[in-house]
Amino acid sequence: MIRAAVIGWPVSQSRSPLIHGHWLERFGIDGDYGRLAIEPERIDGFLAHFAGSGLAGGNVTIPYKEIAARAARHCQPIVERIGAANTLWMENGELCADNTDGVGFIANLDDRAPDWAKTPDEALVLGAGGAAAAVVDALVERGFMVRIVNRTLSRAEALAARYPNRVSADVLSEANRYARTAGFIVNTTSLGMKGDGAVDLDMSVVPSDAVITDIVYVPLVTPFLAAAAARGLRTVDGLGMLLHQAVPGFTRWFGHRPTVTPELRALVEADL
Ligand code: ATR
Repeated sequence: MIRAAVIGWPVSQSRSPLIHGHWLERFGIDGDYGRLAIEPERIDGFLAHFAGSGLAGGNVTIPYKEIAARAARHCQPIVERIGAANTLWMENGELCADNTDGVGFIANLDDRAPDWAKTPDEALVLGAGGAAAAVVDALVERGFMVRIVNRTLSRAEALAARYPNRVSADVLSEANRYARTAGFIVNTTSLGMKGDGAVDLDMSVVPSDAVITDIVYVPLVTPFLAAAAARGLRTVDGLGMLLHQAVPGFTRWFGHRPTVTPELRALVEADL
């Protein structure tokens, strides 16, 4: 039996077992995808001896994405660029790491708003945390000029400095100024999560053909997305990012490339 797991502290909130369990059943694979809660004092040792864990690989969630990137012997270029990993696997006896958050983010948009980046111009990113790092990298790769606005300016500046001439930084309170010319806007802050505050952006200034998305998916329709939809703007919710980021890991561990279907989406949506 091939085994994989999501590794974190805590992991009870993770919906990855639901996603991978669905695909294992679909393909009829003799495999298992579980949850592995590892205490902070054990994580270094666990990753250093990953080969002895009996896992073919797994996902890494908060707070271990950075530790996993450092522990892996071979990393995809994206992991080197952003210093965080979410997918691990063993290859020739060595631990390898990838970060699929960015490809998940892009695949969700390609799926739900196919022409969202037909002529990439200005993208506005709200927030500068771990999730923003993957999103900004993916947007630059896709050809956007990116503006990051964040409550803590220094974090936005540190992220922007990785992409000279492509990404710039400012404070969150300046968001409305940049929203006027942005063809694409994404919320990567935790605002809006489980009713926790809301992003203060004036949707009336946003160009009418802009696409708006949120990486928060609980609730599925955040106040940010609801405000954009009320203005008649095109919106994409964040659930698809979670589903699509899981595809490369499953493919590596279990040898079949799964697809994100409406059936899978409905299954996870029912669990939110
Ligand atoms: P993640 O890995 O999910 O991105 P994170 O690294 O903790 O989590 O980042 C959270 C983001 O939400 C940051 O951009 C954070 O802003 P700061 O860098 O200023 O902390 C933003 N955020 C969280 N709570 C916020 C609030 N009440 N108002 C504005 N921004 C907030």
